[in-house]
Amino acid sequence: MPSGRSMAPPSPRGMLPSSRRLVAVLLLAAAAALGFGVRAGAAQLCAEYYDRTCPGVHRVVRRVLKKAHEADARIYASLTRLHFHDCFVQGCDGSILLDNSSSIVSEKFATPNNNSARGYPVVDAVKAALEEACPGVVSCADILAIAAKISVELSGGPRWRVPLGRRDGTTANITAANNLPSPFDNLTALQHKFGAVGLDATTDLVALSGAHTFGRVRCQFVAPRLYNFSGTGRPDPALDGGYRALLSLRCPRGGDGSALGDLDPATPDAFDSSYYANLGARRGTLQSDQELLSAPGAPTAAIVGRFAGSQKAFFRSFARSMVSMGNIEVLTGSQGEVRRNCRVVNGS
Ligand code: HEM
Ligand SMILES: *[C@@H]1O[C@H](CO)[C@@H](O)[C@H](O)[C@H]1NC(C)=O
Ligand SMILES: *[C@@H]1O[C@H](CO)[C@@H](O)[C@H](O)[C@H]1NC(C)=O
Ligand SMILES: *[C@@H]1O[C@H](CO)[C@@H](O)[C@H](O)[C@H]1NC(C)=O
Ligand SMILES: *[C@@H]1O[C@H](CO)[C@@H](O)[C@H](O)[C@H]1NC(C)=O
Ligand SMILES: *[C@@H]1O[C@H](CO)[C@@H](O)[C@H](O)[C@H]1NC(C)=O
Repeated sequence: MPSGRSMAPPSPRGMLPSSRRLVAVLLLAAAAALGFGVRAGAAQLCAEYYDRTCPGVHRVVRRVLKKAHEADARIYASLTRLHFHDCFVQGCDGSILLDNSSSIVSEKFATPNNNSARGYPVVDAVKAALEEACPGVVSCADILAIAAKISVELSGGPRWRVPLGRRDGTTANITAANNLPSPFDNLTALQHKFGAVGLDATTDLVALSGAHTFGRVRCQFVAPRLYNFSGTGRPDPALDGGYRALLSLRCPRGGDGSALGDLDPATPDAFDSSYYANLGARRGTLQSDQELLSAPGAPTAAIVGRFAGSQKAFFRSFARSMVSMGNIEVLTGSQGEVRRNCRVVNGS
């Protein structure tokens, strides 16, 4: 047994008060210097952030999500997408949740979001339940991160510990929202957009695109591939003929662009690796999906193959990439605020 336990340690109690103060001041100064050396005001997110201030946060979010899912099988996919559309636009700051007001031009009406991004009332319900349980504590940006994590988990996907402590922004940027990745982007464009937010343009792009293993898509994003690919008047040559026939039934030429289909026809609501098997069979639903495999020898193609062969490898990468995405330009510490209502900036 180490005898140090029973020995009296050299105790600061033995110091003179003035030298104790000096030690404290020096320690504080050192800590401050280190902190500011990293980046002024930049605190780290951590999974335990609400352990003392709102210990029930995960339980509350899970309860509201499960309830919403009873009436809406698509909601887990929609909430997962909201976190993505939040993080890619001036960071994970809850900006996508802000409505139009005198100071805000809402991102909700940007082209990638208008009549497309959904789940806002469920976020409101989560926020209301959390304001009841621990008023003024949990940010809307963190609600989106937790909702995405729980949604993936409840759909059969991987689990991970989600870092928390994001603060909510007080601005929105519809221009940036209009520049979100487009389903008609080629591989180069997709890689640029992921690189621009500090994500890895290969592994993160391929892993996160795997979220298209669940959820729905409107015909307007599919029809051009069926009838007039890149304005050629021909179908997309990268699309399997059988799948094209199936999609054409769902989305007839000149039909309703807002009609919905499944992103993953194999297992529409399950979070699994069938997305990658679909790509291997040239059954990617969006052009941007199939692009990951389009260029022979592209590094993205190798990763698609790896994830198609191993759901475990996909799940591990997806969890890691979701944490990376959730770290994009976060506000922490005293930056931003914790919104009381996710739709409006406090005090406005
Ligand atoms: C790589 C670039 C991406 C592009 C071009 C893209 C594009 C799209 C499009 C066009 C839709 C259908 C929207 C509609 O029809 O209204 C969609 C749906 C969806 N996206 Fe993506 N997406 C991308 C990446 C991601 C990422 C990174 C995630 C999450 C991690 C994600 C999650 C989803 C989900 C879950 C849906 C279904 C939503 C629902 O059913 O409500 N996507 N995406
Ligand atoms: C919000 O503002 C945008 C841009 O000014 C506008 O296009 C949109 O129709 C507005 N939406 C609502 C619900 O007022
Ligand atoms: C959003 O969609 C609505 C309803 O389809 C449409 O009337 C409006 O013009 C769209 N807004 C923008 C900014 O495109
Ligand atoms: C909004 O986003 C655009 C495009 O990313 C950027 O150029 C612009 O500076 C942003 N505006 C503000 C006020 O941050
Ligand atoms: C990809 O798209 C960009 C514009 O988004 C274009 O400039 C580029 O030429 C395209 N690359 C290929 C290989 O088609
Ligand atoms: C296909 O798209 C091109 C460019 O957008 C357009 O000029 C052409 O008329 C379209 N063709 C058909 C058959 O719709």
